[in-house]
Amino acid sequence: MKEKLEQLKKMAIDEITSANTLKNLDELRVNYLGKKGQLTSMLRSMKDLSKEERPKIGQIANDVREILENSLRDKKSTLEKQEVNSKLEQEVIDITLPTKNMVYAPLHPLDKTLEEISDIFIGMGYEIVSGREVETGYYNFDALNLGINHPARDEQDTFYINQDTMLRTATSPVQVHTMEQGKLPIRMIAPGKVYRADEVDATHSPIFHQVEGLVIDTDITFGDLKGVLAEFAKKFFGDKVEVKFRPHYFPFTEPSAEVDVTCVMCKGKGCSICKQEGFIEILGCGMVHPKVLEMAGIDSTKYQGFAFGMGVERLTMLKYDINDLRLFYENDYRFLTQF
Ligand code: DAH
Repeated sequence: MKEKLEQLKKMAIDEITSANTLKNLDELRVNYLGKKGQLTSMLRSMKDLSKEERPKIGQIANDVREILENSLRDKKSTLEKQEVNSKLEQEVIDITLPTKNMVYAPLHPLDKTLEEISDIFIGMGYEIVSGREVETGYYNFDALNLGINHPARDEQDTFYINQDTMLRTATSPVQVHTMEQGKLPIRMIAPGKVYRADEVDATHSPIFHQVEGLVIDTDITFGDLKGVLAEFAKKFFGDKVEVKFRPHYFPFTEPSAEVDVTCVMCKGKGCSICKQEGFIEILGCGMVHPKVLEMAGIDSTKYQGFAFGMGVERLTMLKYDINDLRLFYENDYRFLTQF
């Protein structure tokens, strides 16, 4: 019996030593120390021993059990550590590896310009108003003093939805909606998309962006208009830019003007962009026509105002020297990441 126990101990320790998985180790535990395990059944057979032998063998058996339990526990913790280590090794992150090419999304140049324009006018106390892109003939034309025979009413320029509903051809209808709300004074800009049944080429697109401006108060003069728009031009194009107000005609303003700035390409020397003028047009403006005020319910004997409208694509092309408007809509990453 004693030899048997020694043999069993040796065999068990050998097997425990060479166990290489936790599962393997647990099988060994069951095999030796489990209910039907080898050592357990040997202990059970001790009842057949003589009275003298029993305590001696019992002692040895208990020692063997303790030794086996200890070596199982030691081996278990070794295997557990190994498992953690190999997991850590597998999951190691090599921080020296180059990253995947990160694609970041820069602001679209038109959004950049829109933000810049908005910032300039917000700085002067203007509010940002949003309008609607689908308008009725009243708001898109009549209320802006565009008579029934005005060329802009021609179907060629306007995307009609039905006889009296259309995609707005300018942001100017927002002026009318704002005035109709009856809250005075008004200092607002209205950026947004406008639609014209145009061909697509380097300077035309059926969809483009405008920023409308409107100021209504008592004591507003053409001098205020000049001051605000000259300030805008200098903030947008830089201090050195020269600003010129040139008489023009718009049905909804009287008097009306177009604003020119020193040609950004030739700095005023004269080139093909400015048609040798040294100046280029950047926006339209004027004092709000009394008829327009009255139609919107504003007393034109008490209130005056000025309005302006500018093309966002045009301003962006001038500022960044972009020669083809189609670049804005093609989403070519090489173009978009230049801003
Ligand atoms: N609505 C004009 C256009 O689309 C731009 C414009 C000119 C707006 C003069 C104005 C203005 O408010 O006063 O060409």
